[in-house]
Amino acid sequence: MRRRWLAAVAITMASVLSLSACGGGDKAAQTPAGGGGKKQVEVFSWWTGPGEADGLKAMKEIFEKQNPNFTFFDAAVAGGSGDKAKALLQSKLDANTPPDTFQGHAGAELQGYIKAGDLEDLNSLYDELKLKDVFPAQLIDQISVDGKIYSVPVNIHRSNVLWFNPKVLKEAGIAAAPKTVDEFIADLQKVKAKGKIPLSIGSEWTVVHLMENVLLGSLGTDAYNALFKPGGNWAAPEVTKALENFKTILSFAGDPQDDWQPAAKQVADGQAAFNIMGDWAYGYFHNPPDGGLGKKSKEDFDWAPAPGTEGTYLWLSDSFTLPKGAKNRDGAIAWLKVAASKEGQDAFNPKKGSIPARKDADQALYTDYLADALKDWSSNKLAGSIQHGVSVNQPWLAAITEAVGLFIGGKDVAALQKGLVDAAQANAQ
Ligand code: GAL
Repeated sequence: MRRRWLAAVAITMASVLSLSACGGGDKAAQTPAGGGGKKQVEVFSWWTGPGEADGLKAMKEIFEKQNPNFTFFDAAVAGGSGDKAKALLQSKLDANTPPDTFQGHAGAELQGYIKAGDLEDLNSLYDELKLKDVFPAQLIDQISVDGKIYSVPVNIHRSNVLWFNPKVLKEAGIAAAPKTVDEFIADLQKVKAKGKIPLSIGSEWTVVHLMENVLLGSLGTDAYNALFKPGGNWAAPEVTKALENFKTILSFAGDPQDDWQPAAKQVADGQAAFNIMGDWAYGYFHNPPDGGLGKKSKEDFDWAPAPGTEGTYLWLSDSFTLPKGAKNRDGAIAWLKVAASKEGQDAFNPKKGSIPARKDADQALYTDYLADALKDWSSNKLAGSIQHGVSVNQPWLAAITEAVGLFIGGKDVAALQKGLVDAAQANAQ
């Protein structure tokens, strides 16, 4: 009991610190009326850092223009992939003090909030805006239970991107991005021999992100997807081989950076050759210097599907919700309408480094990396991200993260595999 209490205090203190660190703690905005008698809408995410905050800002501007009676209150909590935000969110939900709307990943993660009874369904909003016609059916499926739809997906992100610095590859004598896991390992060795960082890495969640990519690249799409179905065989010898690959690849990683941005930056700055990260890195690399790095595509950075995963989109989707008991329910619905709209999605996604969830977006706005992403999304096989909430729910992800955390220390493949088997047994449904 006391331990739980201490943990809760730790979460609260951490969140207070992060809130003040991310600038979401603007005093005027925190008063219920906000500036000029306007009612604030508390929008919860973790998009505070360079790159990802840009997309949110673009949607906020549209929201405030269309809703002069509301002000946007940015309740974002710093920490890539929501590793700190989600703990604070859970404590707010438990205390019945939810934000007006929060970002939750389509798939198993969202299903957890639905099953816990945290969310209102949005069927009337879907009917009013005819949203069933504009979102892909397989996506609506991931955010529904018993015919009720519980969130508004704002984008599709790709997890399986190999970002690389073309100049560093050239110096190491690598002519093209590696297509298989074995080629990747050989290339990492070549970069190491030249004295550069072969693979940059960030905080612990980025190692889980790397692992999902190596599992997919080593096992193939069908065997990867089967891991999350009833009876998924995490003890299989193919998984052992995949985890051995993971161990080898991780042995080429540089010093762990604080989060995904500094790790990605090592590639763009030419200190590192490769980084495996989601396509939010594109917004960070490409956006002009007030929100991103302003780097040159194909010169400072380039991309390819993560080794062994060509033809598969390891996907995830950011989606906004309507929590039960939202203080400003009307304001939250107004936000959801912007998030659902073509205008909102076409402002958000080119900055966020994602493609729109809507099928009718303005394709001309998606150029360079994003044009490749649009093309692949419409033709590739699909696999669901582990780290970003599609394939596993939050308790399952927590158990996987714990096993990976121990592995980072001990590098024991058998113990990692046992941890993954146990995690699946305890949490698969
Ligand atoms: C993901 C999220 C993305 C991006 C990324 C890094 O979980 O879906 O939108 O924010 O984390 O923070």
